[in-house]
Amino acid sequence: MDTSERENGRIAVVTGGASGIGLAAVERLLADGYRVIGADRNREQLARLSEEKPNVDWQGLDVSSQAEIDGFKQDVEGRFGCPHVIVNAAGILQDNVPLDAMGMEEHDRIWDVNYRGSFLMCRNFGLAMSSLGRGVLINIASITALRPLPLFAYGPGKAAVVSMTESLAGHLGPTGVRVNAVAPGFVLTPPIKAKIEAGLRDAEDLSRAAALKRMVTPEEIAESIAFLASDRAAAITGITLPVDAGWLAGSAWDTYGGLGTSRKTEG
Ligand SMILES: NC(=O)c1ccc[n+]([C@@H]2O[C@H](COP(=O)([O-])OP(=O)(O)OC[C@H]3O[C@@H](n4cnc5c(N)ncnc54)[C@H](O)[C@@H]3O)[C@@H](O)[C@H]2O)c1
Repeated sequence: MDTSERENGRIAVVTGGASGIGLAAVERLLADGYRVIGADRNREQLARLSEEKPNVDWQGLDVSSQAEIDGFKQDVEGRFGCPHVIVNAAGILQDNVPLDAMGMEEHDRIWDVNYRGSFLMCRNFGLAMSSLGRGVLINIASITALRPLPLFAYGPGKAAVVSMTESLAGHLGPTGVRVNAVAPGFVLTPPIKAKIEAGLRDAEDLSRAAALKRMVTPEEIAESIAFLASDRAAAITGITLPVDAGWLAGSAWDTYGGLGTSRKTEG
């Protein structure tokens, strides 16, 4: 079967669809034949994308608001029926600030979008999918959920996304709904590019510990999302799939002289 026909007729919702990983997922799922709804709170970007990509249904949505999610769900179900796939890519990154400079308002805002927003989407749409006996939920975690970094609100919030993914997989699995997460490594998306350009992050630092010695592209994350969404992953639920150019494999090797074959050894 042709790739573009594979998922024909299926409905996919991508939050955070107006930029970065979410936008790459929108494009990838569209190429696979899904009818795609891109939801985002950035209205300016949505207006631009509505002109550029009219084959996507672009919707304004703040995922941290239960009321907005309720309205969004009602609207989507009224027009398309219950979606087959939800991708929770809406998220915000955290600045690398000292512990005592981490304001609790900022801390809570990060949790509200990254954890609470994903949970609300999973609960609302997951229960509707469950009553139909089918559906796939995909969360975007992070390697910071799996190895500690000095991102004191962002990292723990992403660890909670991993834990929620596992809990919901157990709860919804018996009704045929799969729940998985992708844990991206460092991905060149607009907020990361902006930090590199402002001198606040170093592309070399972000690549050094990865076994493949590079960052990840949004399209590579989208590829893993498309796989988890599809029937090719029919037996996969409750997992967090790292897509990190080998950062998890390589991040501790500095202790033994660095990655690769050219490091100093005892023999
Ligand atoms: N870029 C990376 O290196 C990286 C690494 C690991 C995980 N992630 C995760 O991937 C996801 C996407 O990040 P990205 O790098 O593509 O960022 P991005 O800024 O390019 O895209 C995020 C999108 O989410 C939207 N958004 C933010 N808050 C929202 C809200 N309350 N409701 C609806 N939409 C909202 C933004 O408007 C934006 O369009 C995030 O969850 C992020 O934590 C990114």
